[in-house]
Amino acid sequence: MAFPDQFILELKQNNPIDSVMSSYVSLIRRGRNCVCLCPFHSEKSPSCTVYLESSSFYCFGCGAGGDVITFIMKIENLDYVEAIKFLADRAGMAMPEDAKNNESSRIKSRVLEINRTAARFFYDTLTRSPDGEKGRRYFSERQLTPATITKYGLGYAPDDWHRLSHFLRSKGFSEEELITANLCGRGKNGGVFDLFRDRVMFPIIDLRGNVIAFGGRIIDGSGPKYINSSDTPVFKKSRNLFSLNFAKRSEEKRLILAEGYMDVIAINQAGFENVVATLGTALTQEQARLMSQYADEIIIAYDSDGAGQNATHKAINLLSEVGVRTKIIHMEGAKDPDEYIKKFGALRFKQLLDKSGGALEFELDKCRNGLDISTDDGKIEYLKRCVNVLADITSPIEREVYIGRLADANKVSKEMLLQQVDGVIKRRINKAKSQEWTEIRTFQKQLRTNPDSYRHPKEYKAETGIIAYLANHPDEADYISSQVSPDNFVTDFNKKIYRVMLEKMKNSAFSDILSLQSEFTADEMGKITEIVINSKDVNINRTAVDDFINILISNADNSADIKDMSNDDFLKYIQDLKNKK
Ligand code: GTP
Ligand code: MN
Repeated sequence: MAFPDQFILELKQNNPIDSVMSSYVSLIRRGRNCVCLCPFHSEKSPSCTVYLESSSFYCFGCGAGGDVITFIMKIENLDYVEAIKFLADRAGMAMPEDAKNNESSRIKSRVLEINRTAARFFYDTLTRSPDGEKGRRYFSERQLTPATITKYGLGYAPDDWHRLSHFLRSKGFSEEELITANLCGRGKNGGVFDLFRDRVMFPIIDLRGNVIAFGGRIIDGSGPKYINSSDTPVFKKSRNLFSLNFAKRSEEKRLILAEGYMDVIAINQAGFENVVATLGTALTQEQARLMSQYADEIIIAYDSDGAGQNATHKAINLLSEVGVRTKIIHMEGAKDPDEYIKKFGALRFKQLLDKSGGALEFELDKCRNGLDISTDDGKIEYLKRCVNVLADITSPIEREVYIGRLADANKVSKEMLLQQVDGVIKRRINKAKSQEWTEIRTFQKQLRTNPDSYRHPKEYKAETGIIAYLANHPDEADYISSQVSPDNFVTDFNKKIYRVMLEKMKNSAFSDILSLQSEFTADEMGKITEIVINSKDVNINRTAVDDFINILISNADNSADIKDMSNDDFLKYIQDLKNKK
């Protein structure tokens, strides 16, 4: 799908990269550029740079990079056309006419229509059909009010292999579409059958109010407790949250994170609008980031059992990586928030929220698990575990304060604890260093097996030099293309870049190298950005380009081949590559 250049240009002007990116990450100004923690891999110090002048970003840690369109493709998991649409919406721009009816958005809107129709069917079955009696009884036993059932659009899937599919087929949806929406499976005899049978149904609704998926809970009998939709063209479970459509409207700058759908609904019914849950999987980085857009503080209200506590520990780490404060409720006398509210009421639950403790207190508390700290052995083991937790605190002042408190509470010397904690920190640093070496070795192996750019380092360098030069001097396209053709390029990827650049230049459709976007994937754009950024540091002049061209046209096959390098040469070679960055 090609968009008019003028449209793309305006789109980018109306969506400055720093303003778009700052809804996902916190940007820190550094000279002419900004840096941030890379949203595409997990890291503790910022290696992602945003170049304001060229409106591009590049992460030196994972190689992600590109322009604002690439960024949206990657972070919102959209294809090129969808990303353009997303940015056009964001800037309040109308899409060019011919872009509206492309195939992938057609399929998506069909799936959304099916989902909406199915949700309506489940809801009607629950609320007004004789078959729904079983579901009605279930929800009333769990003390959900009719208002709550309507608010969440809950439903019941009848105990039948074909009821839903017959209904949807009668509404004009094809079997293929039912399968794409993940409401049906294909049977051995070639027909389709309903995946959700005899279950109470929880529609998953996105921020725009679309029904994007379903969770179905068993009422009795055997089988998994929940069946959740797998990913479809409109649903990715790792990046949506149950009930965020309600929670986002809440005025509160804090969100409650619960484990199950039923917990969320019970908490919501008790008067707390700001509650969400993941969709049948552990919390992901994407979900953590999503929550950080709506809240400064997350209160984790997971189940009080061992599994819930482990999940809490993982969630704390993920949430602290995206920079939100976490608190943890400490629930006694109930296994989950749903049961707690039933037993003790909404007011007590509110008190629980208000006196929820910080992440560190939670981790320190957890060190007691399974130990009797009135005995010497128990106390020693407890303090050892605490030392490991304290070594996680990055701020030395905060560390000192907590160490002091722990020393007082357990009547041991503060100096001794400090020394222990320092020891752990030192050991960790050493371990990290040795890990870095392992990574270099893995990298080395990968390079050796993964050819092209690394198998022909000399040609690769010449090729990227030519590409960078051409990008900065489009007026010399005629000269360069007369000297070297794409066929002279050795690596496939650079060959493609060069070919596409020349084509675009011939059609005067080239503004800068990032305008190659429509021909490359988001990952490839990362590599292209890398080439541009590297080329800024080395000023390539005409003489250098002529040398590069010579390398390619003579195509002497005597370039350094990585397979033949000694280990030392090889390490020097990677070090050079790294230093160039
Ligand atoms: P109740 O037991 O009815 O209170 O349900 P709950 O919603 O509180 O669920 P629970 O605490 O048991 O589990 C938490 C979440 O994990 C659920 O909401 C589901 O999203 C998910 N889950 C639970 N059991 C299953 C299962 O068998 N399969 C899958 N895929 N997910 C499950
Ligand atoms: Mn539960």
